[in-house]
This record gives sequence, C-alpha cells and structure tokens, in this order.
Amino acid sequence: MSQSLRTLHGPLSVRRQTQPLAGAARPPGDKSISHRALLLNALAVGRARVTGLLEGEDVLAMAAALRALGAGVAREDGPDGPVWTVDGVGLHGWHEPADVLDMGNSGTAARLLAGAIAGARITAFMTGDASLRKRPMARVIDPLSRMGARFVARAGGRLPLAIQGALEVAPLDYASPVASAQVKSAILLAGLAAPGLTVVTEPAMSRDHTERMLARMGAEIVSGPGPDGGWRVALAGQPELTAIDIDVPADPSSAAFPMVAAVITPGSDVRLDHVGLNPARAGLIETLLEMGARIEILNRRESGGEPVGDLRVRGSALTGVVVPAARAASMIDEYPILAVAAATASGVTHMPGIHELRVKETDRIAAMAKGLAAAGVAVEEAPDALTVTGAASVRGGVTVSAELDHRIAMSFLALGLIAEQPIVIDDAAPIATSFPSFIGLMEGLGVTFEAAS
Ligand code: S3P
Repeated sequence: MSQSLRTLHGPLSVRRQTQPLAGAARPPGDKSISHRALLLNALAVGRARVTGLLEGEDVLAMAAALRALGAGVAREDGPDGPVWTVDGVGLHGWHEPADVLDMGNSGTAARLLAGAIAGARITAFMTGDASLRKRPMARVIDPLSRMGARFVARAGGRLPLAIQGALEVAPLDYASPVASAQVKSAILLAGLAAPGLTVVTEPAMSRDHTERMLARMGAEIVSGPGPDGGWRVALAGQPELTAIDIDVPADPSSAAFPMVAAVITPGSDVRLDHVGLNPARAGLIETLLEMGARIEILNRRESGGEPVGDLRVRGSALTGVVVPAARAASMIDEYPILAVAAATASGVTHMPGIHELRVKETDRIAAMAKGLAAAGVAVEEAPDALTVTGAASVRGGVTVSAELDHRIAMSFLALGLIAEQPIVIDDAAPIATSFPSFIGLMEGLGVTFEAAS
C-alpha cells in the first residue's frame, strides 16, 4: 500500500517517476556551517543569533554537547523560522561535562569538539553510534596530543574517547597527510588557546568555513597556497573572539540530491534556493556541468560570509567524464550521488583519488559499488576509485542497505526515480542526520515515496 510519509524510519522505496520533477525548494541549512556557527560562537564572547541552522541529528548532538560544556544554546520560533541563540562563554569558560558527550553519527561534531576540548582545561568523555565508533580518530588524536592534550581511546584510535585538555597548549606546525576540514579545524580550534602561531598545511584545500568564520569573529588567520601544491593556514593564538550572527546558507551537499534527481528525471525543471556556492564545496556542480547537465546559477550573492545562489536544474542527457582527483576535496560528500548520475550517463565515469570515502559514515566506495551492481549497473571498485558505466536504463528491483549512512540512503532513493523496478532502502532513519525534511522536500517536487516492508 502506498502512503505519503513525513517521518524517517524503516524501509522506504521509490518507483520510476511518470512525471518530471517541478517546483522550487530551499534545501536545509549547511551541516558544516551549522556545526561551526554553534561551536565557534560558544567559544566567543557575547550572544549570537543563528538563522537557517540545520536541525538535523548531527547538529542537535553538537548543540547538546555545547550545553553540557556550559555554553547557552537555545531555540525559539521567529517569524521567518527558528532562531538559535548562542551565549558564548569565551575560550576559557567551558566547564567539565557531567556525563559522556554522545556525538551520535557525526564525525564533524566529534573531531571539532575534540579540538576545542583539547584547548580547554577540562576532561571530557565522548562516544557515538555504531558508525562513528568505527571511524578513525587518530587523525586528530595525533596532532592534538602534540599540542599537549591527552587521550585514551579504543584500539586504533576509535571512540569512546577520554580527552584531557592541555594545561598549556603548545602551538603546532602540522603537515596533515589528508585534505580534511575536520582535522584542520580541530587543530585550529585547539590553536585558539595556544600562545603563538598554529599552522596547518594540507595536501589540497579542504572546505574553509572555520577560517572564514574565525576571521569574521576577529581572529588573525591567513590562508594561501602551501608547499607542493598544498594549502596552508596560519592562526595567531589567543584572539578575542566576538560572537557573530550567522544566516546559514542551504547545504550544497544536501541540494545535491534534489539536483541530481532533477537532472536524471527527463523533463524536470526545478529551482533550489539559497544554496552555498563556496568554491571548496562546488565540485559536484562543476562535474555535472562537464557531463552536460543543464544547471544555471542565478542571483549570486553573499550570506553569512559565504557565496550563495539559486540553482535552476533541468532534466539532462549526461555523458561520462573522468573526475580529476584534484577536485575530490571540493565534492568529497557528493561521490555517492554522482555515481547515481553516472549510472544514467552515456559512457564511462571514472572517479579516482577518493580513498577518503572509505572512512566516511560507511565505506562509501564499497556501499555504492555493491548497491549499484545489485541494481544492474556496471560498476568497478578499486582501492581509491569507482568507475561507473552508464546505460539507457537501470534494472533496479533491489533492497539496498543504507549502512547507517544518510548519503547512501538518499543516493539509492534517487536512483529509484529512474529504475525500471522499485529500489528499496532498508532504513530511512539515517537521513535525519543531515536532511530531516528530505521526504517533504522531494514530495513537494513531485516525488512519491512508498513505505516498504
Ligand atoms: C566536514 C568535512 C568533511 C566532510 C564532512 C564534513 C566538515 O570530512 O566529509 O561531511 O564539516 O568539516 P573530512 O574533514 O573528513 O574530509
């Protein structure tokens, strides 16, 4: 029996659309910027108003942790939607949480908070869900230990984790082996408490929301090209951070799902409003344009210190491409949905240089390869690459495991829009971590979901 669903739990399915997608929608607030809007303001002095915040489970876990650490974080309904206020307590105002901090599914919340706690004179304990407890934390534990913090973790540097902040934080000059905004941000947040310059270089520029926000709050922070084609960020420690109001743009990583849904569903014409267009996040749009997608960027403007615009997206015939490995950091969360677009393209789409996908909410290379193959798509998996050969039609008729990963769940629901037989995901619940309004937004564009058993 088919029914309209507004809640996310249990199996969910989509069958081939008989109508094109149409209409306009504003995707939810940017997850990365939402985390930082709460956390950085909690480290600043003064009251900040945050609008457009993503009220997904990941960000709510951050809000709860910040309250437990002594910051004032509250929500009220305003005339134009919810307004979050953050009463920052300053760099040294955090207190020891009375209980374990539960970061749920969120790697960003766990790693950024680990950095901030490393720079505070407190001890805290942190855990997360079954997915987060498998994810590598050594990438932040190693540099933060060098700055003077102490950690006790499970084997391999996994959560649960005990963190003892440094009494005197040492500034660090760190060459990160991975292009990771979580690693970079964790070090910069600890570096806020250090007397002197903290420097992070990364092999390629990762998203720079932390740097933009810290600069707006009054920190001295400079970034630019680093050695060997990499990226370098330098922060002067012990700044006076002033709370700032932030209007969070819509998340390009969430907009990616209705965007690709419209591109692959013939005849579609959809507008997605107020979408973040930070160049460090815009790799999917660039790639889809190269594949022949009809995407127009309208009304380019600035909001909350970030470039934004409205996107007009139309159903398009796609051609496979090689996605340059150097672009990976700017679309790291978008490869699962790009693989879905690639399944409908003529020819081969090769996606190299994406080994980081193996340590996301699940191993996304493996999860996509397995689900696409089961749905009848020709796909090849390599240790750090995915290659998809598109076809005029996709068989479908499978149940795919979401593996506690919101982006895997939404990607396969998007594939269901064009598959001959329905695609079922075993559990829609993970979608609430980043896109709690997913079903309502997609229904508004004309998509019909069915509860599956
Ligand atoms: C994020 C950084 C990225 C991204 C994640 C959010 C952030 O992870 O995949 O969804 O907000 O800093 P890495 O830092 O591990 O690349």
